[in-house]
Amino acid sequence: MKSIVVYYSRPDENYGVGDVEIGNTEFLAKEIIKQTGADEFKIEPKVPYPKNYMDCVNQATEELKNNARPEYLGDVDLKDYDTIYLGYPIWWGDLPMVCYAFLENHDLTGKTIIPFNTHEGSGNSGTYAKLQSKFPAATFKGDGFNMSGHEARTKEGAAKISGWLQTL
Ligand SMILES: Cc1cc2nc3c(=O)[nH]c(=O)nc-3n(C[C@H](O)[C@H](O)[C@H](O)COP(=O)(O)O)c2cc1C
Repeated sequence: MKSIVVYYSRPDENYGVGDVEIGNTEFLAKEIIKQTGADEFKIEPKVPYPKNYMDCVNQATEELKNNARPEYLGDVDLKDYDTIYLGYPIWWGDLPMVCYAFLENHDLTGKTIIPFNTHEGSGNSGTYAKLQSKFPAATFKGDGFNMSGHEARTKEGAAKISGWLQTL
């Protein structure tokens, strides 16, 4: 059985990092892929989130309020995978709604899910516990891993995630 890193990460204008070509969570995702040899599936919304930070914040507010399930591009069959590293940024104390769209589209029975996330102050914001209660057929392993988005982009961030991977 194999492992896969499934993640969402938004490039463009963001809090504390300016206008970037690669999102913060993607740095952690790539480091996990490099260190574990896991496969990769990046959740890409069919309609990309706005490049402008405030426009994105406004859209995320609406989506959270409406419990939206935005569509995403492509998909992956999870049947060959027993371990899923699940990465996302915290948006309004929660996962971006497009991540729920992905999770609800798959049978997670028997999967071990290892969450990791970036944020700018909220930590994991209770999302690991929320995920476990929303998807009881999967086992969410350990305490997950979270890091501030601006640190995720640094060498120190890579070293920390490497240390965490060794504890698993
Ligand atoms: C729409 C939106 C909502 C956010 N809400 C929060 C929040 O509630 N708490 C927090 O600590 N950071 C929040 N942030 C900051 C992001 O979690 C942080 O910048 C993260 O590293 C972004 O990851 P990404 O570049 O992989 O998308 C928010 C950012 C955006 C764009």
